[in-house]
Amino acid sequence: MKLRTFATVLLSLLSSAPALAQVQQPNSEKLIIDSDFGTFNDDGQAFILAAHAHKAGRIQLLGLTLVTGNVWMEQQRVDALKAVERVGLEKQVPVFAGAQGPLLHSFASFAQEQALLGVGDGFYGAWSGPRPKSDAEVVPPPDGHAERTQIQRRDAVDFMIDAIRANPHQVTILALGPATNIALAIRKAPDIVPLIGRIVYMAGAFDVPGNTMPAAEFNVWFDPEAAKIVYREPIEQVFVPLDVTNSAHFPLDFFDPILKANPQVARIYSRIPDNPNRPPWTFIPFWDQLAIAYVLDPSLATETETRWVDVDTNFGVNYGRTISYKHEFPQGSFLQQAKIVKKFDLKRFEAYYLETMSKPLR
Ligand code: RIB
Ligand code: CA
Repeated sequence: MKLRTFATVLLSLLSSAPALAQVQQPNSEKLIIDSDFGTFNDDGQAFILAAHAHKAGRIQLLGLTLVTGNVWMEQQRVDALKAVERVGLEKQVPVFAGAQGPLLHSFASFAQEQALLGVGDGFYGAWSGPRPKSDAEVVPPPDGHAERTQIQRRDAVDFMIDAIRANPHQVTILALGPATNIALAIRKAPDIVPLIGRIVYMAGAFDVPGNTMPAAEFNVWFDPEAAKIVYREPIEQVFVPLDVTNSAHFPLDFFDPILKANPQVARIYSRIPDNPNRPPWTFIPFWDQLAIAYVLDPSLATETETRWVDVDTNFGVNYGRTISYKHEFPQGSFLQQAKIVKKFDLKRFEAYYLETMSKPLR
C-alpha cells in the first residue's frame, strides 16, 4: 500500500473506531510479562505497547520475566534490559532471567524430529543458532547496551511466585513464550495456583496447522511438557492462538507511518539483521502484539470459544500440538476449560497499534 493511501486509511480508522484508551477497562490490572524477548520482534513490540499502557495507568507492569524460546537467555538479557531503559521504566519494571531451556525437549531431540519429520517453517528460535558462549558473542542492541539497568538477582520463577502471593487473585501473566517458567513456578509453589488472576497466552494452533512444525505452534512446541502442566491447572486461561493471529498478517509497508513518526522505533526496527530497512519476511506476522491488546481490551476478541484443552506430548509429528475438546470427558475431566480467541476486531487493533507505536518511547 502506498504511504498516502495508507495514511488516509489510518485517519479514517482513527476517526471511526474508539481508541483503545477510551474503552472502559478494569483499573490498573497487575501484569507480569513472561517473554522470549527480542528487541523488535513481536515480544519487543508487545512490551512497547505494555509500557505505554503502564505509563497511562491502565496496567501495572510488575516485571518482565525471560524464558528461553525465540532467543537464547544471554541475548534476551541485554535486549530486555535495554528495552526497559529505552522506554524509561528501568526503575519501575525489573527484569528477571528464567529458564535456560525446556523441561524435556532438547536440541538433541529436535535433531531427531528434523530427521524423522522433515522441517517446519525453518524457524526454531534459539535452536536456529549457537548459544553465545560469552558476553562477547551477544549482539548489542541497535542503540547500544543498557547503561543504568541490571538483571535482578532473583530468578524469574521466584519472582513470579512472590508477586502472585503478594497480590492474590490480582496478577495476570501474559505468556508470550514457552510455558517453562510458569510450569516451574507451579511445581515449586503449588499454593500459587488458586492465587493467579489469569493467564493470557500467545500459544497454540487449535483448528489450524502449526507454524514451526506442521501441527505445532512455536511456543507450545518448544516446551510441550511445560505447556501441558500449566494448561491442566485450574486457572482462568485465555489463548490467543494461531487461529486468530493468522488473520493478522500485515504488508511490509504497514510500519511506514510509525517509522516516519517515530525515529527511535525506526532505529531499532531498521537494524534487524540481514536487511538494513526491512524484516526478512514478505509480510509481518503479528502474534504477541495481539495478546497484549487482548489483555488491555478483551472486547477486541469478536469471537471466542470455551473448550477443554491439552497438549500432545507423544514424540512424533504431533509433538506440541494443542488439543481441544468441546465437551467434558464422560467420567469427569482432568483437563481444564479455557477461552480460545478465534476472531479479532483487526480494524480497531490496527488503529490502536499504529497510534500507540507512533508515540515517543519516553
Ligand atoms: O508462534 C509465535 C510465537 O512464538 C510468538 O510468541 C513468537 O514470539 C514466538 O515466541
Ligand atoms: Ca514470543
